[in-house]
Amino acid sequence: MPVPIVIDCDPGHDDAVALLLAAGSPEVDLLAVTTCFGNCAVEDATRNAVQVLTLAGVTDVPVAQGAAAPLAGQPALGNYVHGASGLDGPPMPAPAFDPVAEDAVTLLARTLRESDEPVTLVVTGPMTNVGRLLRDQPDIAPSVREVIFMGGSTERGNHTPTAEFNAFADPEALDVVLTSGVPVRMVGLNLTHQALATPEVVQRMAAMEHRVGQTCAAWMGFFGGSYQRIWEFEAPPVHDPCTVAALVDPATIQWREAFVAVELTGTWTRGTTVVDLYRRYPDRTPNARVAMTLDAGRYWDLVLRALDRLGRR
Ligand code: BDR
Ligand code: CA
Repeated sequence: MPVPIVIDCDPGHDDAVALLLAAGSPEVDLLAVTTCFGNCAVEDATRNAVQVLTLAGVTDVPVAQGAAAPLAGQPALGNYVHGASGLDGPPMPAPAFDPVAEDAVTLLARTLRESDEPVTLVVTGPMTNVGRLLRDQPDIAPSVREVIFMGGSTERGNHTPTAEFNAFADPEALDVVLTSGVPVRMVGLNLTHQALATPEVVQRMAAMEHRVGQTCAAWMGFFGGSYQRIWEFEAPPVHDPCTVAALVDPATIQWREAFVAVELTGTWTRGTTVVDLYRRYPDRTPNARVAMTLDAGRYWDLVLRALDRLGRR
């Protein structure tokens, strides 16, 4: 049986690939998509999500717009990585459908409450929508199979020297989720920096004789340029689809249980995840499974298989 999921995202080049991986993988059932500020303003993220689903030929998955700002403080935006639109690069198809009128938290709650089985929440942007849901409706927790999110790191950061962007963008919301008691899996930079779109991978996308593959190859060109300019990477790490890959083929990622917390204060470290891999806080029970090792060959085979399936449809 396919795993029922909702993707809460801020597309974003790598979020876009995550949506395509989900749309093109029969192992998951994409029930809804919700959006958040993050890589761009939330209105741009919503438009991008609809256009990516349109590219995939998916017009029956509801898309709801969510938070424009975090639970506390001002929004941090990632346009410096993803461009003015949040998804700069190749031209996109005109949206084939409209977002629903409900907001993201309402659609998340309704999807969870109406489902016959618990639903996995895949979060690839700031945690604001899911944090708000679990803070305001804690009775919904049993309907959440797990929250699997891209964010944080066992090592260093990217938006600041120690904080990863999604965790930095709404640490209070991430804290709500980490302390909620809901099963959590964290896919941080330590894992996603193993998911590099090498020239060989981009070549495999470009060689597909359809718009889905070629659009992805062009996205990697834009995203790769940002990663080279800002972080001196030779190939861009395609973070967000790692969350979906873990559901499509569990053998893709190896995990470790750990206590995870996020810094809410700190002169320099707000938004930094603290991951206790070696039980240095013996009184702290592990509250998450943390992604450690990626089988990159297997990962790219899954992503390319999904893109090709969508492009040939
Ligand atoms: C995360 O931030 C965004 O740039 C990406 O979409 C990803 O979700 C990586 O730190
Ligand atoms: Ca993202």
